[in-house]
Amino acid sequence: MPTDTQFRPNSQTTDFGKRPAADVIIVGGGIAGLVAALRLSTSCQVLLLNKGGFGEGASSLWAQGGISAAIGDDDSPELHAADTIRAAAGTADPEIIGILTSRAPDCIASLQEWGVDFDTEDDGSPALGREAAHSRNRILHIGGDSTGRGLMETLCAAVRKQPTITIRDHCVAEELIVHHNRIVGLYCRNLKTADTPAEALFAPAVILATGGIGGLFEVTTNPSECTGEGLGMAARAGILLADLEFVQFHPTAMHVGITPAPLATEALRGEGATLINDRGERFMVKVHENAELAPRDIVARAVWREIHAGRQVFLDCRTAIGANFESRFPTVYQLCRNAGIDPARMPIPVAPAAHYHMGGIATDRNGRTSMQGLWACGEVASTGIHGANRLASNSLLEGVVFGAAAADDICRHLAKRYENADRSDRGSSILAPHPLPASRFRCYDAKISTLTLARLRQLMSANVGVVRQQESLMATLHELDGLIAQIGDKSAMAANMLLAARLITEAALQRCESRGGHFREDYPTPNPTMRHRSFMRLNDDIAKRSPQVIA
Ligand code: SIN
Repeated sequence: MPTDTQFRPNSQTTDFGKRPAADVIIVGGGIAGLVAALRLSTSCQVLLLNKGGFGEGASSLWAQGGISAAIGDDDSPELHAADTIRAAAGTADPEIIGILTSRAPDCIASLQEWGVDFDTEDDGSPALGREAAHSRNRILHIGGDSTGRGLMETLCAAVRKQPTITIRDHCVAEELIVHHNRIVGLYCRNLKTADTPAEALFAPAVILATGGIGGLFEVTTNPSECTGEGLGMAARAGILLADLEFVQFHPTAMHVGITPAPLATEALRGEGATLINDRGERFMVKVHENAELAPRDIVARAVWREIHAGRQVFLDCRTAIGANFESRFPTVYQLCRNAGIDPARMPIPVAPAAHYHMGGIATDRNGRTSMQGLWACGEVASTGIHGANRLASNSLLEGVVFGAAAADDICRHLAKRYENADRSDRGSSILAPHPLPASRFRCYDAKISTLTLARLRQLMSANVGVVRQQESLMATLHELDGLIAQIGDKSAMAANMLLAARLITEAALQRCESRGGHFREDYPTPNPTMRHRSFMRLNDDIAKRSPQVIA
């Protein structure tokens, strides 16, 4: 594991004069990364690294819900903020939420300027839908349940047109380069030539927009590219992390033997679809007064308990949606048909699945992390907006608002930094370590790691999933430590995933209460003294990988 000592240059060579790869390197091409790139493109050279092909592999692409914004006549940013705070189960940051909801209408307008075409009513006004726990109709959609795809296609097209944005596909970041307590670049590897050494890229600003952690779990609705590597890399660099224990499990992923599990959007329940078990019982009626429209964590636990008791669970759309399914929910309809199900006539088998990480790299209102030179936005960041439980359709919005905030902050930062240097001179402003330490990882995805990763995912789903308890969390930590030792520096992907999983497990163990998405069987109620966010970073003695709980 790199430490400051390893990176310390000898005293005469602090300025290596390394040419930067760009003014800004963005890792991740989901909605947050794309918005940041577009915003920066008017004044900066941007290098955008994608783990998959451009426009692929991001959770944003799969978003079936919509994007929230208080633009209705009966709505206001204050009402939107109040709903977000209520859903967050006591640990959200009201100031950041205020920023999110007050900027939302302008962000929607910027998206429209970039060419995004939201669904409208017959009179041409935006069609505003409602989702669970929103007190007003404020969800904008594209093509019904294809909002993510619609957004991504338009933004990718806009990015392609910008000559100042260079796109590198199949390129994965493995390790941040720390120098003098500042991020100065990263090591990355081209997945098409994965057995060649990692390449060091330098830039005065790096944005991590690497997405979530669903791929750490056996059952997830996230694309398989979402494996928590941004989190692992940031942790390794000693950066502050927050709220790691709060993972949102979606109650209605399709249980049809497909990995990742296709999502059956909450909007189906919004339209009246019901949850039944294999005895035909509508079990949610006994669990919560809002039945299927109870908060997402409550529905997920109820579904989990049914399955744990040996019963199958189904989402029954036959009466509420029936023959309208294909036209109203074309994406889910197609996913069902791919699995051999006609949802107009058959109930859909469902199970809870890891869906969204409320925790991540701690960031401020400008997307700044705890270390200079590094910004984070989108799901990998933890802004404090979602608290212990994210309100549906706030995540695309967060990606847009804080992707833009990070970009604007970087523009201000670079303007100052470049004040006295013309463009051709910018390279000399990068302070890079000299001699440059080699990347620590031998390869990205060693074949050796396949079994390890399967075990990791099993452990996380079984023990750090919907319902948790001390004994199994401790056993998981122990086993993860063994896997971490086994993998060592052999595979960057496995090492970053294992570290991210280990830190989430540690955070889940530390929070001895139940709150929002974090449920402890051994501490089943909220503890008022723990009504606060949690912060963590790897100790100075990083080699021991022992996290220090800060609050
Ligand atoms: C859904 O469509 O059910 C998911 C929407 C979200 O997670 O925001």
